[in-house]
Amino acid sequence: MYNSKIIGLGHYVPERVVTNDDLSKIMDTSDEWIQERTGIKERRHVKKEGGETTTSMGVKAAKIAIERAGIEKDDIDFIIFATLSPDYYFPGPGVLVQRDLGIKTVGALDVRNQCSGFVYAVSVADQYIKSGMYKNVLVIGSEVHSKGLDMTTRGRGVSVIFGDGAGAAVLSREEDTSKGILSTHLHSEGQHAEELALLAPGMGGRWVNDIVADDNPEDESYYPVMNGQFVFKNAVVRFSEVIMEGLKTNNLQPTDIDMLIPHQANLRISQFIQHKFGLDDSKVYNNIMKYGNTTAASIPIALTEAWEEGKIKDGDLVVLAAFGSGFTWGSVIIRW
Ligand code: UT7
Repeated sequence: MYNSKIIGLGHYVPERVVTNDDLSKIMDTSDEWIQERTGIKERRHVKKEGGETTTSMGVKAAKIAIERAGIEKDDIDFIIFATLSPDYYFPGPGVLVQRDLGIKTVGALDVRNQCSGFVYAVSVADQYIKSGMYKNVLVIGSEVHSKGLDMTTRGRGVSVIFGDGAGAAVLSREEDTSKGILSTHLHSEGQHAEELALLAPGMGGRWVNDIVADDNPEDESYYPVMNGQFVFKNAVVRFSEVIMEGLKTNNLQPTDIDMLIPHQANLRISQFIQHKFGLDDSKVYNNIMKYGNTTAASIPIALTEAWEEGKIKDGDLVVLAAFGSGFTWGSVIIRW
């Protein structure tokens, strides 16, 4: 039996900074409203022209992670890509990474768990490594939200929150089972599927032919919708539960946490959890102020930045936790 360990991290965000004031020029919103409700000051958007995609950003993050891992691309045994904004409806971006990185013909899996995507992907990678099936697994979370948001006042409850970016991690076999990923915990509650969703195109709803036949510029079904307050209330409960579940499984307490990396959904959610667990500011990493909510990319971007800033050291107890559309939620308990 082995553990898996994160041996390389990388992130990439597009250059274009979009401030709250920029958004208030194109929709009825304000810097004050956005900062007060979410903590976000600015986010990154890919340029409208320029060809940057979910895959291309994921590849950039992955190259950094592979280099820092000190392995060659052909040492990668499996690729897992989490996103809700793939380049193509199908095939998913996993195979595009295999192609664009020029990796030999290893398996490539796409994970569709939205804000929990990276946690789900890490859990899958961990199981493959624990079982001995693979030694090195590349896990990527990447999103281009900006091209799919309703950037008018109608969509302001969603569009001010989300941003573009990518993060990646290389997970590798660790023979010392007191180190690395100690446990992962995944949950879902599909009865709330439509509370945070993008409904089209979907075979159970409106597919491309329906949209083309209707030719209705008012059609909203291609935009994400969110029942913000309901999602918020569920998020604070589920984040807390799944972090406690992970700690208890390993006979640990909240006071044992050295670094909590919550999915960057809303600074108020992170602060709620921080206070609930009595954690100092230095033990919770937030960068939503700079990037907004980058969904599957938010945890790997935050984890990479925290590591780059020297805030994660060998032996630290690092906790990842996410909640989002599905609803899905999960946690990862790591002895770094
Ligand atoms: O990542 C996946 C998980 N996602 C989350 O966890 C998100 C959870 N939810 C939230 O973060 C918050 O609910 C939001 C930030 C999305 C919204 O904050 P809120 O305090 O729940 O506001 P609200 O939706 O209740 O809206 C309050 C008011 C409404 O106006 P009225 O009806 O009171 O007149 C909205 O129309 O704010 C209005 N509003 C805005 N005003 C200015 C909504 N969006 C905006 C906006 N700018 N961008």
